[in-house]
Amino acid sequence: MVKIEPFEVEQWMDRLETTPGVLNIAETCAASVSYDDLLRMCEDKNMPSPLLFSKKLTYGAIRGSAALRQRVASLFDRASDAEPLPADNIIITQGAISANFLLFYTLVGPGDHVICVYPTYQQLYSVPQSLGAEVSLWRLKDTNGYVPDVSELEGLVRSNTKMIVINNPNNPMGSTIPKAVLQDIVAFAKQRGIIILSDEVYSPLYHSLPPGQEAPPSILALGYEKTVATGSMSKAFALAGIRTGWIGSRDKAIIDAVATARDYTTISVSQLDDQVATYALSTPVLGPLLKRNMALAQTNLGLLSAFMGKYASVCSWVKPTAGTTALVLFKENGVPVDDPSFVLDLLDKTKVLFMPASPCFGLGKDFRGFIRLGYVCETEVLLEGLEKLGRYIEEHLMANPENQ
Ligand SMILES: Cc1ncc(COP(=O)(O)O)c(C=O)c1O
Repeated sequence: MVKIEPFEVEQWMDRLETTPGVLNIAETCAASVSYDDLLRMCEDKNMPSPLLFSKKLTYGAIRGSAALRQRVASLFDRASDAEPLPADNIIITQGAISANFLLFYTLVGPGDHVICVYPTYQQLYSVPQSLGAEVSLWRLKDTNGYVPDVSELEGLVRSNTKMIVINNPNNPMGSTIPKAVLQDIVAFAKQRGIIILSDEVYSPLYHSLPPGQEAPPSILALGYEKTVATGSMSKAFALAGIRTGWIGSRDKAIIDAVATARDYTTISVSQLDDQVATYALSTPVLGPLLKRNMALAQTNLGLLSAFMGKYASVCSWVKPTAGTTALVLFKENGVPVDDPSFVLDLLDKTKVLFMPASPCFGLGKDFRGFIRLGYVCETEVLLEGLEKLGRYIEEHLMANPENQ
């Protein structure tokens, strides 16, 4: 029997997010949109409705419709002058979670070594471990803005290193790996024939980069064949409910190998989901959808930054540059709070929901006192949540004059 660690963040979310009256500032999707919202956003009023009601609901195209795979492929051409990625180098999955799982299941096993950035979405290191691979964590440091330090790869790599796993933008830090660093990772991996898996589920939400820094391209645009990227409609495209994700690779053999494994788990994805995703990624819808989500992220990050300034005596962070999440350290009397108790007490007293980072993203005693916020919710929810959090902080963490 395969042994796998419980997936902490998913279990914490599942347990708490349906609390009646919850103010959910833990969700990592840009505030979800409805089917009606998509229709309203569409800039071409002559576009036919996405759902083809008379189309028979067969399994459809096994790897995903040609139209959807073409639109996903063109997402990878962003911010680069690399060769366009062919649609055949894309396979559609049930969310990025299935995409990541299938990749590990297909490519990694006993005898293999995997290097994975940390912290990140737990799946990215727990699944390869459960499949018998040895995993080394590539620790992200606040002193480096939570950008991986490529000089550390030399000390992590082994003769059997099969894969380097990165997450750009990062969950939970909301940090960005810039193009130059991606190029260095590629150069390192290419020299040794190591596969790079880049979980790009929060791409292209590079909404708050410092002036002069450009949004990085996908890992697939850097001229190395053994690169794989995963993504989905859930986060940057605000459509988690259609459970549509993908794998793209410059190496068609990887896509074919994944397809062989996928036959045992998926056959095909829902034809209705495929149609909605295809519509959402069409030019007249994609433009306004991304514009909305970028603006929402920027507005909400501005509000959160103001809050962080006001309560700087008890909370600190490395301000995110991308994605939908931020990691904030809360202290009481100069000591990190017990983050799981803090989250549960805050929820109980105010209905504001965050995720505690130490169980969800930390191993051992890592990230004690840190809380992950998902701040790209509806702005009214964030405003109400921050107001309640502020009052809670004043009553509980700032009661001691030393903290004021
Ligand atoms: C880094 C990362 N990858 C993958 C996923 C899975 O997302 P989905 O299956 O909805 O695409 C998540 C969800 O939180 C995530 O944060």
